[in-house]
Amino acid sequence: MCGIIGFTGNTEAAPLLLDGLEKLEYRGYDSAGIAVIENEGINIIKSEGKIKNLREKIAKSHTPKGFIGIGHTRWATHGKPSDENAHPHYSKSRRFAVVHNGIIENFAELKEELVAKGYIFHSETDTEVVAHLLDDCYDGDFFSTVITMTKRLVGSYALGIVCKDVPDKIICVKKANPLIVAVSDKGNFIASDITAVLAYTRDVYTMQDDEVAILSEKSVEFFNLDGEPINKEIEKVTWNVDAASKGGYEHFMIKEIKEQPEAIRATLSPRITPEGKINLDGISLSDEQIRKFKRIYITACGSAYHVGVVGKYVIEQLARIPVEVDLASEFRYRYPLVDEDTLVILISQSGTTADTLEALREAKRRGARTLSIVNVVGSAIATESDDVLYTWAGPEISVATTKAYSTQLSLIYLIAIKFALATKAITDSVADELIAEILTLPEKIEQIFELEESIKRISERYTYLHHAYFIGRNLDYAVALEASLKLKEISYIHSEAYAAGELKHGTISLIEPGTSVIALCCTERLVEKTISNAKEVMARGAEVLCVTTEDNRSCANICDYTIYIPKTHPLLMPSLEVVPLQLLGYYTAKSRKCDIDQPRNLAKSVTVE
Ligand code: AGP
Repeated sequence: MCGIIGFTGNTEAAPLLLDGLEKLEYRGYDSAGIAVIENEGINIIKSEGKIKNLREKIAKSHTPKGFIGIGHTRWATHGKPSDENAHPHYSKSRRFAVVHNGIIENFAELKEELVAKGYIFHSETDTEVVAHLLDDCYDGDFFSTVITMTKRLVGSYALGIVCKDVPDKIICVKKANPLIVAVSDKGNFIASDITAVLAYTRDVYTMQDDEVAILSEKSVEFFNLDGEPINKEIEKVTWNVDAASKGGYEHFMIKEIKEQPEAIRATLSPRITPEGKINLDGISLSDEQIRKFKRIYITACGSAYHVGVVGKYVIEQLARIPVEVDLASEFRYRYPLVDEDTLVILISQSGTTADTLEALREAKRRGARTLSIVNVVGSAIATESDDVLYTWAGPEISVATTKAYSTQLSLIYLIAIKFALATKAITDSVADELIAEILTLPEKIEQIFELEESIKRISERYTYLHHAYFIGRNLDYAVALEASLKLKEISYIHSEAYAAGELKHGTISLIEPGTSVIALCCTERLVEKTISNAKEVMARGAEVLCVTTEDNRSCANICDYTIYIPKTHPLLMPSLEVVPLQLLGYYTAKSRKCDIDQPRNLAKSVTVE
């Protein structure tokens, strides 16, 4: 959570820092601040709320003049959103200023020690401990002070530090939190992700845990925590600035919904040969190794977990290998029954989600083979997994995921087919048919976009809605989980997903006149059963919207509204079915005038548990 930017170069730092913070705002947006070295002192300006508040504050006072600085946009962990708790933080002597992502787990004991020595704390944050600790460890040398200080920390951190005695250098260090160093002809940057610096450069270094970097205008050097130099390779980022901006849409979310066909094509094309065979570049598993797996676990958080629920149905049905799906936050603490005969699949857009990362580490400790599906190249989950398959979705900015979810689904299908071929649970011709059908998904999603206006009209009925229930069976239930999350996280309408057959076991008592139910009826063999459940809730006054395939025309005579979508292989229907429901969530949130790309209390990347 939280965004970091830092710059040292040949041009004024403040405008670049503010610009970078705006790009990072999706990572956290309850307060922001910058520190610039100016007139041999460090000038910190910070403000509660979004970057525009900070800009206004700066405009009313003075724009710090200086060529080096650090900035931060915060998502609160220790201490409420406020000016005082906003980063950067000064050390007691004001020699240092610090920005931090992560959590210092031993902050309470360090604080006690520092307070006993006379340090006065001005915030409730764990980060202020780092700032004062720098003063406490100060030995006259910026670099060795940072190393000494870092060795006292327990927890996770990406730290950007400036020191007024060394007014041309930024030092950064990281553990379990993402941080990159980017080089440009204006100067050099640190950032929590590349979105912040794409306007200036595409040349980046990805920092690994326990690495320290020293940046000046013209140089970047890397060291380990013993102070020994490290050689690192520069990486060329292929994402362009356009891909990271809204591209003419009102919100990133709708832009990203519309990018799904392209993102799926980009994810599939390197993995399907011209002959229509699967070639999973990131997996080094032989068929024999696949056959040895007695069980597969899929573990993830939020929407990525919902992809896992689809994965359970698809992999079990095709490959006939038992699959368990677990929330990463549960998996990591439940002494999971995994061993060397288990494959653990981790799914994460950001590749930095704290619980998913820890679930990965727990799986590895227990000897399991690990495979991750990740969107961000070089992220912790990708780096630490035995095998990694990247979703080539490009940067996803909207907090509500859409294209990452869809590209993760595509990879799940390919994994299921590959494993089914390895276990000989399906023939080559079944695999060929499935692959041919998968390749049609982008085009079919484009057809669904033609329904946008009618979905928009339906969503207007939801403007003043208080409760919604999504129901479905089998894969429809898996999609209901995601559709319900999509609606609630951006529109703030209370929404729940239920396996349709489960309604009668309690939840149906909540149905009363005016309740909205969305019935997902795309699992062909179970449509009639879900329709029966739809009739039951309608009999109790619910208004029902049905999502089904074009051939189920009878639904229109039963339900209040029906959205018809194209058909594909039953196991691939989630990829199509989710799209109108993403649009429904988006337009409902829009009609309620919600902050769609940055919903309250949420952040794009959840790097604390
Ligand atoms: C969904 O719209 C959310 N953004 C959230 O549930 C997300 O999927 C979850 O936090 C997992 O994130 P990750 O894919 O980056 O690990």
